[in-house]
Amino acid sequence: MKVAFFDAKPYDKPSFEAYGEKAGIRFKFYETKLNEDTVALAHGCEGICVFVNDEVTAPVIDRLVEAGCRFIALRCAGYNNVDLAYLAERIPVFHVPAYSPHSVAEHAMAMLLTSIRRIHKAYIRTRDFNFSLNGMTGFDLHGKTVGVVGTGKIGRCFVDICRGFGMRVLAYDKYPADLQGVTYVDTDTLFRESDVISLHCPLTKETYHMIDDAAIKKMKRRAMIINTSRGALIDAAALLTAIKERRIGGACLDVYEEESEFFFEDFSNHIVEDDILTRLISMPNVIVTSHQAFLTEEALDNIAETTVQNILAFFDGAPQNVVKK
Ligand code: NAI
Repeated sequence: MKVAFFDAKPYDKPSFEAYGEKAGIRFKFYETKLNEDTVALAHGCEGICVFVNDEVTAPVIDRLVEAGCRFIALRCAGYNNVDLAYLAERIPVFHVPAYSPHSVAEHAMAMLLTSIRRIHKAYIRTRDFNFSLNGMTGFDLHGKTVGVVGTGKIGRCFVDICRGFGMRVLAYDKYPADLQGVTYVDTDTLFRESDVISLHCPLTKETYHMIDDAAIKKMKRRAMIINTSRGALIDAAALLTAIKERRIGGACLDVYEEESEFFFEDFSNHIVEDDILTRLISMPNVIVTSHQAFLTEEALDNIAETTVQNILAFFDGAPQNVVKK
């Protein structure tokens, strides 16, 4: 069975090739993203495998239906890039609901520690044999308060890590759970009392720009904001203003509202025209990674294994991880 694999990166291939070979699936890897211009590459394939920035839009869906494509296998959890309403279940869509919550939670803590202990600065300094400590003073996490928004799979892993550091844990979740060592509060209290705020809830109409100017005004002046969830949870312009006005301690961003234009690609020889992103990156107290939090060997392995299982389950007549409108 041939499956067209769009937006393929070198780190995707080993795990997909290995699981594909065992299952009799040959992934045809294309570096290009799926869109109206590239959908023809799916011709002759049983199905397609796509990622977060592939565009499964109405015209693409029409061409896939015409070409006899039998499934769309997302190798990610989110499916906001698929026009499910237009698709109207003509072709089933599968996704990977969970692959490694630890990978994202550990990345969130790695970014926080990098920022508050100035590891990013130290790395550059010592490579230049500059062993001065001026400007490197950080602060202890032990005894500080962390506010976790969204205590699902990733949020819970992050809570455990923070508790290991001896932090007091506050949380806000639309559907609170019974978690040991966690005090659920409203967002106002969480914003007011937290030294570190980490976002782990999905992007919905309700959570869009939940960190805006009004929210930042409620926070402590040295509060750190971590976002490994979705960019649009934060109003990036408001965050930049608060950083410039020194109203916030700093930010660790693995996601950015307009990331689809830039993230995952090499722009080192280009002029990046997004002034908010470039200005944020220029700040000493902002760390940006390009939607990298998921990228561990364990997560890649789980993604490939589940995607292949999803395809096999469909052909066995017992579809799993099907995305519904
Ligand atoms: P999950 O579904 O296990 O947990 C989400 C939690 O958010 C749930 O407890 C839910 O009740 C809560 N929630 C829902 N609506 C809410 C609201 N309006 N306000 C507050 N809480 C709300 O999801 P999981 O696996 O923990 O993932 C969390 C987010 O992490 C995903 O939505 C995704 O955006 C992001 N993610 C980022 C990755 C990266 O590489 N940076 C990789 C994987 C996920």
